[in-house]
Amino acid sequence: MTGKIFISRALSIDPASILGEHPFSINPLDRPLSRKELIESLQGCEGLLSMLTDPIDKELLRHCPDLKVVSQHAVGVDNIDLQACQEHSIQVTHTPGVLTDATADLTFALILSLSRRLMEGDRLVREGGFKGWSPTLLVGEELKGKHLGILGYGRIGRAVAQRARAFGMKVLFTTRRPVNDPPNQSVPLDILLAKSDILSLHCPLTPTTRGMISAEALQHMRPGAFLINTARGPVVDEAALAAALQRGHLAGAALDVYAQEPLVHPALMDRKDVILLPHLGSADRATRRKMAEMCLGDLLRVLDGKEPMYPV
Ligand code: DGY
Repeated sequence: MTGKIFISRALSIDPASILGEHPFSINPLDRPLSRKELIESLQGCEGLLSMLTDPIDKELLRHCPDLKVVSQHAVGVDNIDLQACQEHSIQVTHTPGVLTDATADLTFALILSLSRRLMEGDRLVREGGFKGWSPTLLVGEELKGKHLGILGYGRIGRAVAQRARAFGMKVLFTTRRPVNDPPNQSVPLDILLAKSDILSLHCPLTPTTRGMISAEALQHMRPGAFLINTARGPVVDEAALAAALQRGHLAGAALDVYAQEPLVHPALMDRKDVILLPHLGSADRATRRKMAEMCLGDLLRVLDGKEPMYPV
């Protein structure tokens, strides 16, 4: 039997349904482990099923000499020092493709919620403020004919574009590598910022994208625009976003991710023009099941000396 696997959070499936008799243990707590706890749990383990909340860095790897494979229960791997893993000959895998629709659906739910003021409506009713239909009550924005700007045109960005076109929106996008995808239009970042009525972020977190939506970028956004972030928190300067909302330059924002998750910038917390979600991008039943299956399958494959199906 090959080496033991540690699973850093309870999954939405029973791991034994994939691992069979293969030895494994799971973090029994309903929270991410501290570095010390994770290192302790990993002693004697060759496989780790990691979450985006587990920093897998040089220091951790130094204390886990048996580790051969890290299988990340996410598509984003910005919490993993890939170079350090390579130096320790640790294979890294992840879950690409499977959460594309789930994340695009959530993004669109946020676009609709912001533009049609759903959260404000819900609050109004619960607080007893609904006194009957009114022609001026919580009037929002229609999507048809509006420009949706997509920053990062990979699988998720394209899936959001597909949904946007079904709503009659015009799609602009900015991406690292030039792509031709008519009628959606590839534009440089400054044009994307200037023209988008709604800007939605779908880029990975990299040294280039960290802080990309800075005070200056926000200033270049079209007045009255909405910002949606279901990618990674540190892409946005949250203090600058709060300031742009405060001075009325932007009309609203919807965030599923935060620069210092799970902390939310205090200046965003009380704003009624901001929707705040607890990182739910991939949180639908079928997707979470598939993510767990992909990770467990790849852990077994690598520990059996085979090639993983979803290498990073
Ligand atoms: C991912 O896979 O990167 C998502 O953020 C997880 O929900």
